Amino acid sequence: MRITRWPTAAVLFAMAATAYAGDSSNDVPYPLPMPLMAVPQNLGAHVRADLLLKRMTQDEKLQFIHSEYQMSAVPGGGAGYIQGVPRLGIPDLNMVDSATGSGSTTQKSTTFPATIALAASWDPYLARDFGARIADQLREQGFGMGLGGGTNLAREPRGGRLFEYLGEDPVLAGEMLAARTIGTQSQQVIATIKHYVGNEQETGRQGGNSQIDERTLRELYLLPFEIAAKEARPGSVMCSYNRLNGTYACENTHVLTDVLKKDWGFQGQVQSDWGATHSTAPAINAGLDEEEDVGPTVYLTPDLVKQAIASKAVSQDRLDDMVRRKLYVMISTGVLDHPAQGGATIDFAKYNAFTQAAEEQSIVLLKNDNSQLPLSAPSLHKIAVIGAHADTAVLTGGGSGNTRDPVTGNFSGCGGLTFASSTGCGWWTNPWLKLNTPITQAIQQLAPSAQVSFAGNTDQTQPFRAYTQQEITQAATLASQSDVAIVVVAQPAGEDFGDLQSLSLANPSNQDQLVEAVAKANPRTIVIIESGNPVLMPWKDQVAAIVDAWYPGEGGGKAIANVLFGQVNPSGKLPVTFPVRDQDTPTWGTNGAFATDPVYSEKLDMGYRWYDANNITPLYEFGYGLSYTHFSYSGLTVEQGPGHTITASFTVRNDGRVAGAETAQVYLGVSYAGEPPRRLVGFQKVFLKPGQSQPVRVTITERAQSVWDTTHNDWAYVPGSAVYVGASSRDIRLQSR
Ligand code: NOJ
Repeated sequence: MRITRWPTAAVLFAMAATAYAGDSSNDVPYPLPMPLMAVPQNLGAHVRADLLLKRMTQDEKLQFIHSEYQMSAVPGGGAGYIQGVPRLGIPDLNMVDSATGSGSTTQKSTTFPATIALAASWDPYLARDFGARIADQLREQGFGMGLGGGTNLAREPRGGRLFEYLGEDPVLAGEMLAARTIGTQSQQVIATIKHYVGNEQETGRQGGNSQIDERTLRELYLLPFEIAAKEARPGSVMCSYNRLNGTYACENTHVLTDVLKKDWGFQGQVQSDWGATHSTAPAINAGLDEEEDVGPTVYLTPDLVKQAIASKAVSQDRLDDMVRRKLYVMISTGVLDHPAQGGATIDFAKYNAFTQAAEEQSIVLLKNDNSQLPLSAPSLHKIAVIGAHADTAVLTGGGSGNTRDPVTGNFSGCGGLTFASSTGCGWWTNPWLKLNTPITQAIQQLAPSAQVSFAGNTDQTQPFRAYTQQEITQAATLASQSDVAIVVVAQPAGEDFGDLQSLSLANPSNQDQLVEAVAKANPRTIVIIESGNPVLMPWKDQVAAIVDAWYPGEGGGKAIANVLFGQVNPSGKLPVTFPVRDQDTPTWGTNGAFATDPVYSEKLDMGYRWYDANNITPLYEFGYGLSYTHFSYSGLTVEQGPGHTITASFTVRNDGRVAGAETAQVYLGVSYAGEPPRRLVGFQKVFLKPGQSQPVRVTITERAQSVWDTTHNDWAYVPGSAVYVGASSRDIRLQSR
């Protein structure tokens, strides 16, 4: 009925084109060669939003910009909701965390691999599907908004929430985030990208002041948000808990309005992190569009905003802008016309299969001496699996980036979970995830005639406690009697756990000792790592093979076994540098103490750039990862395109005897003071049969060759950069000069 009152499509577009002329957001800075990028602006949605806004009462508008925190009362166990306006056909909007699947507190959900694992796949198509499949389940549970697009950079390798993010490089993170966002919104779920911005550590979690100069901000920490905002048009950006250069992120005019809304032409809404709003008029005027409150002090309640408008501290226009943005997002994503109903029968087996496939693309093979892997089942009679509850579970991250136990589906604290946590009961602090097919069982399925035995801590009431000397001895004895010893080590981390004190495998504290004892007992020792952070490996030279499985999600048992036995050829590459020692990392300083108000004094030399600039050899560098096959690179040409665009073309060939995938990485050496030796500007993952080759073309825009010029407050093109093509940030195979 309402549709008949709207202007025709032609009129709509003409009106919208006038109203929103000057949108600079088509300027995509790092376009990957793929069709899924650069979502067009939905002009008609702006016009519909305007029309709806005109029909809303002031009270209806005021209820539209504030979500109350009533975790248990929020429908479907979400993190918040905005009440709709039924008389105008505007539905309620339920939001939920979605970093690794739905964070519903009341509904059974699928646990996907951690976001850092997704980054390790270097596959934007997988990221798109990852976002889409999570969105499907969200809709089935009744959620129209997923708070899952974390992308703070891994400046602090010990960061407690690193597993929720996409690594240390802004181009990798930005492109993966854009693809994930496109996937989510393709399923009519609003995607939130977070935590905007400068929220790289848990120390000083509420209000710590990140001090970041403008060039570093633009070239590093804002960039993944910029790429995703421009290419994928997420509905929402979540401003973070920290202060940025002295001002709370949720009332920081510079990043919310000047950069996000004006420079980037962002048309969506800014929502606060839960409890990250600290004022009424200053926050609203700085660009905050919606408060997510956790009480007891709230700032964007109908009464307070009404008063602010009455006293002229906030203009009516600004309130209208806040509401219009939300309406635009709901309309353009389809959430308004097709609200999620919930109550669907969920095909958990189908989701489980996807999580396994995603993990198989994300596992990184770090070491494989004398081709110890893949294992050949017929030659193995006894297989030892040791540590990290590999007979039962895998580790996931804690906090809002976690999901509920999909196996038991029981959410009532310790009673419903397989394990008690180190610090209490409940999903937030209990990141052990019970599996239908744990690693031991998955290995048994692939090696049916072998005897698979487990040793380690089987005490489920203290799952993180240190291994006893007796357990270590038993594990070493089992290893010495086995054909192969597979040791699983785990590093727990999570939101509100603080940051890690060290990258050493600290918890249980003597995992290094366990690995060393097993390696001494059996030269064929293979280490599997379950971690969201880099880990130190003092035992690296003592073991035969090392596999990083990240927090592998509920398909992790089978995915790990498939890689071990060669059903899957690993193709992940590190999205984050693994250092030799804590002392080598950019944030360690003299004694590893965390600053509550961190100064980003390393500037652009963060992540691999730090190691390259300071000639520090990492344990495993950014972009590194082995395969069961080999790839060669040849024939680099660099062509000038229109403007200052250049295109790097080359060929990748699978030189080995099995099919595999390789991520070719293109780096640029920009000759300009303060720039690192090399920075990533593009990448492409190619899937090749034995003997097959594929041409790769990576376009490097003028913007990708530019630096932020603080004198003119703009991007400045730097001519003459060297182009490097590599299998990792240090394994450079081809270069332009
Ligand atoms: C706080 C977390 O920082 C954020 O990532 C999450 O989305 C909200 N809580 C809601 O759970």
